[in-house]
Amino acid sequence: MHIDQLSAADLASQLDALQGQYGKLKALNLSLDLTRGKPGTEQVALADALDGILQGDFRAADGTDVRNYGGLDGLPEARALFAAVLDLPANELLVGGNSSLTLMYQVVEFALSEGLRGPPSAWGNSDTVKFLCPSPGYDRHFAICEHLGIEMITVPMLDSGPDMDAVEALVEDDESIRGIWCVPRFANPTGCVYSDATVERLARLPLAAAQHFIVMWDNAYAVHALYEDAPQLASIAAHIRRHGTGDGVFQFGSTSKITFAGAGVAFLGSSPENLETLRAHLAFQTIGPDKVNQLRHVRFLQDRANIDVHMARHAALIRPRFEAVLDTLERELGGTGMGSWTAPRGGYFISFDTLPGLAGEVVRLAQGIGVRLTPAGATFPYGRDPVDSNIRLAPTFPSLRDVQAAADAFAVCVKLASVRQRLGS
Ligand SMILES: Cc1ncc(COP(=O)(O)O)c(C=O)c1O
Repeated sequence: MHIDQLSAADLASQLDALQGQYGKLKALNLSLDLTRGKPGTEQVALADALDGILQGDFRAADGTDVRNYGGLDGLPEARALFAAVLDLPANELLVGGNSSLTLMYQVVEFALSEGLRGPPSAWGNSDTVKFLCPSPGYDRHFAICEHLGIEMITVPMLDSGPDMDAVEALVEDDESIRGIWCVPRFANPTGCVYSDATVERLARLPLAAAQHFIVMWDNAYAVHALYEDAPQLASIAAHIRRHGTGDGVFQFGSTSKITFAGAGVAFLGSSPENLETLRAHLAFQTIGPDKVNQLRHVRFLQDRANIDVHMARHAALIRPRFEAVLDTLERELGGTGMGSWTAPRGGYFISFDTLPGLAGEVVRLAQGIGVRLTPAGATFPYGRDPVDSNIRLAPTFPSLRDVQAAADAFAVCVKLASVRQRLGS
C-alpha cells in the first residue's frame, strides 16, 4: 500500500515488523558492497586471451615495432578500431594509455592553464571558471572540477539527458561557464540515453556559449547495452559537422569495461586542430603510449562487429544482476511511494531516489547491517545532493547471490527509513 494511505496504526505495526527484519539482517553479519562500478571477475576473464595473444609478433600493420618508442597518436589500426566505437574518422581520434579519465583531466587542465588556442585563450586568465554538471552524474567528473578550482553548477538530468532549456539559458547568460560534462549513452548513474534532440542541441551549444567552451562527451558506455533492443545514441559527429563546432567537443571512450578495467586502452576524439594542439602538449609528457597493449587489443577485438559480440557476453553476465535488483525493488517497493528508480537498458548503474531527506539515512542503515552503498550525495557536485535523495547502486561486481542479498537488505532499509520519517521517530 502507498505510504500516504497508511494510518498511524498501520505505520506503527510496519515499524515493528521492519525493526524485527532489520535486527535479523544485522545478526547475519553480512558483508556486501554495492558501491563499485567495476566489472566482475568473470567479466574481465572474458578478455584473458589478451595475455600472450601477440605470440612474439610485435609488428603493427605498417611494420612498426610496437615495443619501441613513438607513435603519440596511437597505432593506426587502433585508431581505426576505436574510431568506429565513437563513430568518428580515424584521423579525428587519438589513442592513449589505459584511462579515459586521465585524458579528460589532461584536456580540462590544458584548457584551463595553457589554453586550447594559446595562452590568451586559457580559461584560467579569468578569475572565475565554471562548468555545468548535469546531476545526478559521475563523481569523478565533479572531482576533476573541484580539484582544479572550477566552480560547478548543477543542472537537472531528465530522461532525455541534461535539461537543455536550463543549459542553454545558463551558457547564454554567463561567460564564465566554459564546459559541460556529458555521459550520453547509459549515463552514470541514471542509465538514460540522450535523446536525438538533446544530442543536436549539445552539438550546437558551443555556438551559444563563451569562447573556447567545450562539451566533454564521455561516451564510457558507448557499446555497453544490456539488451539487444537498447536505445541507440544519435551520432553527435554529423551535427558537429553541420554546425562547425568540432573545436568545441571532446569525445572520450575506453575499453576499461570491454577488456581489462585496469589495463585497457583509452581514446579521445576531437577536431584535427584540437588534436594537433594536444599532441604538441602531450609530447612534453610522453614519447608515446603503450602500443604493445594497443596491438593486443586490435588482435583481440578485431573490429566493431566483434566488439558487439564480445559485449553481448558481458551483458549475459551482468543482466541477471540488474534484474535481481530491479525485481526486488519492484516487489518490495513498487506502489509504496517510498522511492523511485531507473531501469537502465545498459551501463553499470541503477539510480534510486528515496523520499526527500532520506538518502543519507538509508546509506547509514545499510552500513549498520553490513551493506556498503555509495555515500549519499556522491552523485552531485561537492558531494551535496540538495534534496538528499539519490543513491547510486552498482550491481556488476558482487556475485548474483550477494547482489540479491544486498537488494533485499536495501529494500528493508528504505522502508524502515521511510516509515520512521513518516512517524517522526
Ligand atoms: C562515466 C564514466 N567515465 C569514465 C569512467 C572511467 O573510465 P576509465 O577507466 O577509462 O578511466 C567511468 C568509470 O566508472 C565512468 O563511469
